[in-house]
Amino acid sequence: MAIQIAPSILAADFLELGKQIKDVSKTADIIHFDIMDGSFVPNISFGFPVLDAVKKIATLPVDAHLMIVHPEKYFERCAASGVNMLSFHLEAALADGNDPAVFLDRIRSLGMKAGLAFNPDFPIEKVFPYLDNADYVLAMSVFAGFGGQHIEDSVYDRVKSLKKEIVERKLKCLVEIDGGVTRDNIAAIAAAGVDIVVAGSAVFKADDCAAEVQVLREFALG
Ligand code: DX5
Ligand code: ZN
Repeated sequence: MAIQIAPSILAADFLELGKQIKDVSKTADIIHFDIMDGSFVPNISFGFPVLDAVKKIATLPVDAHLMIVHPEKYFERCAASGVNMLSFHLEAALADGNDPAVFLDRIRSLGMKAGLAFNPDFPIEKVFPYLDNADYVLAMSVFAGFGGQHIEDSVYDRVKSLKKEIVERKLKCLVEIDGGVTRDNIAAIAAAGVDIVVAGSAVFKADDCAAEVQVLREFALG
């Protein structure tokens, strides 16, 4: 299947957010929505009032990425907003002694696709036990918290390990990567087997964000 592109609105012009979402929706596959709490990550982005507003105009599935402590407190709230795909950080769940598989099942039971996110330094084999319960994994290709960072080169091998495990176990889990995606690295990302790429700066810092999504799609073909 061709790679799917999920523009991250963290890099959008917030004074033009509605217009930019409509523009990018002409060519993109998914809208990526980063929720940060200033605690799990050292930055604060936006929360539920903005999410509700985005959902009202979104014609594409909305993929919410929770970079927060105690993510389970907000699963119902995200479902009420109409979120289609919801990921939380494995590190946040484990820090509280929670079972990430239970969280994934709860997200699914609320009618959303369940995603498991983790930072570039999280041991990849420790993700494997949860692949049956996840609709997708969100392998961070930068450390969560900020847009506009450089991709971590370790992500290519990490994606290959994930894909190998998923194929061997005949699972349906998709692999999404997030952070530092550009025209220059998207072909290597696609070749590693990534199903969904999140791209913030690459899309929204371009003059024409809708056209840039198509450029990225072409570059992904190599
Ligand atoms: C980082 C966020 C990313 C970010 C990607 O913590 O999760 O989704 O918006 O932005 P770029 O593509 O600019 O690295
Ligand atoms: Zn994100």
